[in-house]
Amino acid sequence: MCGIIGYSGPLEAKNILLEGLSQLEYRGYDSAGIAYFDTASTVHVVKKTGKVARLKEVSMPHHSHCGIGHTRWATHGGVDDINAHPHRAGRVTLIHNGIIENYHSLTQEFSLEDRLVSQTDSEVAAWVLDSFYDGDPKSAIKQLVERLEGSYGFCVMFDDRPGEIYGIRSVSPLVAAYTHSGALIASDLTALIPYTRNYFVVPENHIVKLTGYKISLYHMDGSPAVPETLEVNWNMDAAMKNGFPHFMLKEIHEQPEALKNTILPRVVRGLPDFTDDQIPDDLFTACAQVHVVACGTAMHAGIVAKSLMEPALRIPVTVSIASEFRYEDPLIDEKTLVIIISQSGETIDTLAALRLAKSRGSKTLAIVNVKGSTIARESHHILYTHAGPEIAVASTKAYSVQLAALYMISCRMALVRGNFSRDQAVSFLTKLLDAIPAMEAMIAQKDVEKELVTHLIQQHDTFFMGRGLDYAFSLEGALKLKEISYIHAEAYAAGELKHGTIALVAPGVPVIAIATQEHVFSKTISNVREVKARGAFVILLTKEHKDIEDGLADIHIRIPDLDDRFTVFPIAVILQLIAYYASIGKNLDVDQPRNLAKSVTVE
Ligand code: M6R
Repeated sequence: MCGIIGYSGPLEAKNILLEGLSQLEYRGYDSAGIAYFDTASTVHVVKKTGKVARLKEVSMPHHSHCGIGHTRWATHGGVDDINAHPHRAGRVTLIHNGIIENYHSLTQEFSLEDRLVSQTDSEVAAWVLDSFYDGDPKSAIKQLVERLEGSYGFCVMFDDRPGEIYGIRSVSPLVAAYTHSGALIASDLTALIPYTRNYFVVPENHIVKLTGYKISLYHMDGSPAVPETLEVNWNMDAAMKNGFPHFMLKEIHEQPEALKNTILPRVVRGLPDFTDDQIPDDLFTACAQVHVVACGTAMHAGIVAKSLMEPALRIPVTVSIASEFRYEDPLIDEKTLVIIISQSGETIDTLAALRLAKSRGSKTLAIVNVKGSTIARESHHILYTHAGPEIAVASTKAYSVQLAALYMISCRMALVRGNFSRDQAVSFLTKLLDAIPAMEAMIAQKDVEKELVTHLIQQHDTFFMGRGLDYAFSLEGALKLKEISYIHAEAYAAGELKHGTIALVAPGVPVIAIATQEHVFSKTISNVREVKARGAFVILLTKEHKDIEDGLADIHIRIPDLDDRFTVFPIAVILQLIAYYASIGKNLDVDQPRNLAKSVTVE
């Protein structure tokens, strides 16, 4: 979850590190720090609790051409200056993203109790590395990683090696590039794209060495290795706010474009076609069941897919939370298609789920946004979404494109399995594309949500409800509201509310009711009447043509009359905007809500 950057080259390193940390801050923002060699080869460490902006205020008088920087999401030890990275241990200066699970036993084994100044697992790793260091960095790093259990991305400097940075990773991501401006290494591409479009993913079990004039990659035995160069397919503009007050609002607006970028290159003669993705049809025909695994918003996209796929394909479609799935004994086998969904491609639980699925002989298909990410590289097949970088912690455009990918998979599966005729598949895809203008219409009327939140933000609780697909949409609406407005929100299958939860519906409590599914419309409306009778403040979301009795809804938002299966796209925009404006209304940090980080690379 933490952000990591290292630089060695002709430019002022402190500036590059601090700017890079601003780009990486969405990974964690409890504290930030940098360490650098000055021109006399002395190492300086500056670290501060809070955001990168606070670190930037600290005076750093020396010039520097080599350094490392870190923005922290706390795991071990509280949020304070001492636990902030970088950590110094003897001749070693180190930054870390991940969790060292055996740090306790290492502390005892290496008698570190009296040396440690912080409560972090990372400092333990730094001291163990120092104990192995005899002037040969690669040998010391090799000995260190042989002793570590857990996940890590490290960048390390040794006092007697000015100008050099060493990187090593297991699970946690690291990318590196040699550019006209010097050598760079970082936890994500966002820190590299101001300098280059070409980069490589640091492979696990390899050591990368940066100097001012080159980058070298080594196997663990010290022999040279050849990095596989990749090209990033988005530019700096994509990672900037471009006039929007927040990344989240920008990313909400980017959804129609992101959908087009994800869908259109895969349409051939009106049908979904994955030839260019090298996804063969027998992946879809050979399976007897589908198992979708993901976390958070991505998992909610999976729940929508289940409701869509099961009736179309007539085979079981199961959705699992990755952090549960990985410790279960799931009923999957070589006849199971496991679909893994992850925006970042680095979520540790989702990655573990992927590995478990492969170990059971299942075929895996990953829907991932970040090119070259670990999940993308490890999955048998990969369907990239083309949303561009998603910077706001609250996922918006990634959800829409994950849905688009799932809808296309569902359509292709139904076609090749004989559930859809060619005409039905063409019609399905046409309707998917029709959802894009419907989203645009909802974005254009965003003032509706801006006004309605005035009531919402005065409340402690909010309930979302719907039936069938509408229930699946509700789950995501509640998560969005919770994570950025800190208003307690729960999603309920509308018929389930009266089995307990309706006890919480008192006068004024907001209920956001979604009723876009024709076959259960009247049932959901009956449930709305039940909450209204108890004084709820009802925000009702229906299709355009629906007549609703006076007094049932305090606010009624209408979406275009789409086929029931596609209403998620405009509904998602409305729910995202409600959460966004609620957060603004409470004067909160929309893009970097408390306690969260964008990429969850720890368990
Ligand atoms: O990168 P991933 O898609 O694997 O991330 C999964 C979740 O951590 C993510 O969707 C999270 O729930 C978002 N903050 C929700 O907005």
